[in-house]
Amino acid sequence: MSTQGIPGRGEWAAVLCGLGAALPATVVSNADLTARLDTTDEWIRSRTGIAQRRIAGTDLTTEDLAVRAATKALTGPVSVPVQAVVLATTTPDRCCPATAPAVAARLGLTGALAFDLAAGCTGFLYALATAAGLIAASTAEAVLVIGADRLAALPDPGDRTTVPVFGDGAGAVVLQRGTAAERGALGPVAVGSDGTQADLIRAPRPGALRMEGAEVFRHAADRMSAAARNAAAAAGWALSDVDRLAPHQANARITGFVARQLGIPDSRQLHNIEHVGNTGAASLPVLLAQAAADGRLTPGHRVLLTAFGAGLTWGATTLTWPDLPPSHQPTEGSVADDR
Ligand code: COA
Repeated sequence: MSTQGIPGRGEWAAVLCGLGAALPATVVSNADLTARLDTTDEWIRSRTGIAQRRIAGTDLTTEDLAVRAATKALTGPVSVPVQAVVLATTTPDRCCPATAPAVAARLGLTGALAFDLAAGCTGFLYALATAAGLIAASTAEAVLVIGADRLAALPDPGDRTTVPVFGDGAGAVVLQRGTAAERGALGPVAVGSDGTQADLIRAPRPGALRMEGAEVFRHAADRMSAAARNAAAAAGWALSDVDRLAPHQANARITGFVARQLGIPDSRQLHNIEHVGNTGAASLPVLLAQAAADGRLTPGHRVLLTAFGAGLTWGATTLTWPDLPPSHQPTEGSVADDR
């Protein structure tokens, strides 16, 4: 679907009924980075908003992170069988086979349709759109959507411009069929791509990421703002209706710019980049899980999600925050896994 001409919807909707996140226990602060890179805490904080990131060791795979986040999401009030697993990742553990079937098997979901989806840091929104389509087509009654990435493995370890930006993590949600009027309902997903700009973020292999930072910055700000406007309009929301803006955590200056473009005050913007950096496809579900855990998100909040990533890709959607039972609210402790 392009960001133009999003088709209308009937009364049904994909409804969020489970949420979880997992982060590696290892914290790498800006001070840690200054010991091995020609940089400063002040430079990283002022240019990116990042103070620390979580890094997975070689013994913690994308699959492991995905399973941990999904295990928590599956404790939600899911009332129908989970028949599909869509795993958004740019950093699968291997070329073949895909990671999703192994994740499904470890979760006891052998037999479910399961596949990986690569759309850079927009992967979670592409996966939500795909999951909504699977539910609409009656291919699956409920879909487990996971965003999991180990982006810290992509930069050249000596590149002071890209190393500070990225971190590792996973987040997951469960969607099931419901109605557009109920809490948890996902709105239309506005997604798009522009492969003519593919060279702006490129990683032929781990350790070899190349990013034209300033150009990426400009595209990210413009695309995230435009996608957010399209998704809000498609859902019939005015931007003043938005209680919480949940932007992909790429750079605090980018997300601040997007919020200003949309006229959404800082007090309504969710952020966690200072603690986790850019975690790719995990960024949005980790942000939602942490915000739900600490009370920044409460039932009934109208949430506008927007993202941008390598491809180039972009996307946005709306979500009315659900009533998740207290036992299912992810806590800060359960968001950060110990290893
Ligand atoms: N510490 C100190 N100096 C640094 C540095 C660091 N970690 N990284 C770069 N610099 C220097 C550069 O060498 C350059 O020096 P020069 O002017 O002497 O040549 C100067 O800082 C400016 O570099 P530049 O790359 O223009 O910085 P920037 O303000 O664009 O910030 C990014 C770099 C990567 C933080 C920024 O461009 C960005 O966040 N872009 C978007 C990235 C993104 O979101 N990617 C994912 C998309 S999903």
